Amino acid sequence: MKPIGTPLSPNATRVMLLGSGELGKEVLIALQRLGVETIAVDRYDNAPGQQVAHHARTIAMSDPAALRALIEAERPDLVVPEIEAIATPVLEALEAEGAVRVIPTARAARLTMDREGIRRLAAERLSLPTSPYRFCDSLAELQAAIDAANGQGIGYPCIVKPVMSSSGKGQSRIDGPADVQRAWDYAMAGGRVGPGRVIVEGFIDFDYEITQLTVRALGADGQVETHFCEPIGHVQVSGDYVESWQPHPMHPQALQRAREIASAVTDNLGGQGLFGVELFVKGEQVWFSEVSPRPHDTGMVTMITQWQNEFELHARAILGLPVDTSLKSPGASAVVYGGVDAKGIVFDGVADALRVPNSEIRLFGKPESYVKRRMGVALVHDTDVERARVQAKLAASRVEPREARRPAAASIAGTPPPA
Ligand SMILES: Nc1ncnc2c1ncn2[C@@H]1O[C@H](COP(=O)(O)OP(=O)(O)OP(=O)(O)O)[C@@H](O)[C@H]1O
Ligand SMILES: [Mg+2]
Repeated sequence: MKPIGTPLSPNATRVMLLGSGELGKEVLIALQRLGVETIAVDRYDNAPGQQVAHHARTIAMSDPAALRALIEAERPDLVVPEIEAIATPVLEALEAEGAVRVIPTARAARLTMDREGIRRLAAERLSLPTSPYRFCDSLAELQAAIDAANGQGIGYPCIVKPVMSSSGKGQSRIDGPADVQRAWDYAMAGGRVGPGRVIVEGFIDFDYEITQLTVRALGADGQVETHFCEPIGHVQVSGDYVESWQPHPMHPQALQRAREIASAVTDNLGGQGLFGVELFVKGEQVWFSEVSPRPHDTGMVTMITQWQNEFELHARAILGLPVDTSLKSPGASAVVYGGVDAKGIVFDGVADALRVPNSEIRLFGKPESYVKRRMGVALVHDTDVERARVQAKLAASRVEPREARRPAAASIAGTPPPA
């Protein structure tokens, strides 16, 4: 990679983020701190990352023509996919033409944009342990996949997910024959593009699940080296992350297995950058679930637990700079949801939240809130990871998003709210 230049000059190092939500915003900030000129792309105006970048562009990133036109017009040194819903064949074509470098690679972006590419790679090519699974294009196929004879059926309980979805959208658990139709309908309504294909997975009765953040960065000799962060534990509700903590205590055998799996997947995907490898653990047994070839939502905890958080690690790795994945302190994160469907909301209680010892709050600045949209995150460090979890949830609970039109309770009554 050529040396880092000066932003907004002819020798600038220019990096384009495809997707500029709360994770992209932090990557952009990390890049800015290293003197990179940034272009934040999203499908709507004033996305969080667009608010901190040198340039903001709004296009439909799933539209191949629009994506190609933008990349050809901007000619960035690096294109960094930050979401899954991107016209990845365009990235592969541009990479093959030598027109851009895609992070970590265009192939990794394509394989991870839906559940099928990455699952077949992990299970069928790399022979990694995963839940049993089948892909289905109809309700009848789904039922047949569950019921197949000779031990070939997925059975109950199982989980159905649209192949193109994230954050648990369209995902549900099936406990018996009575649930199959409902799960199919739910998946069809929740997929990113219809008409849909689903994966049905056998339910893994894990003790806990972790994200193994894994970084592929250049060493002093110019060769790619793999670095691991401490394991991140997390809790998912309806397929969406609500809290995470680091480090998650693990049996040494399970940790070693987790890292072997993470190495196998990231070696295959290749390139440079940070990956979030999602794993299920039961005793010493570890299953691969999925991988993001980019910072992971549960990894937001690293903003308070690591010397270099996952966004800084990604920025450094993609620029060919050295990384340090060491822990600064145990800590935890807890999500602040919108709680309302409204634009331009306001946040009460931020001062009270920040009175929780050792806490930080990030408000993402999203222009529109939904009840279940992630609008911010509370972060707490503590020598005790369990105490950090309690305190992070306390801090998050004190942040109260509300519609701007509706005055706060205190001003309606003209008196302070009861203690
Ligand atoms: N086969 C399974 N057995 C048990 N639990 C599962 C299984 N598949 C998914 N889950 C649970 O559902 C969560 C979300 O699943 P998954 O990561 O596949 O979906 P997602 O929509 O991609 O979520 P995200 O984008 O937030 O990572 C998992 O973290 C896990 O808690
Ligand atoms: Mg997941």
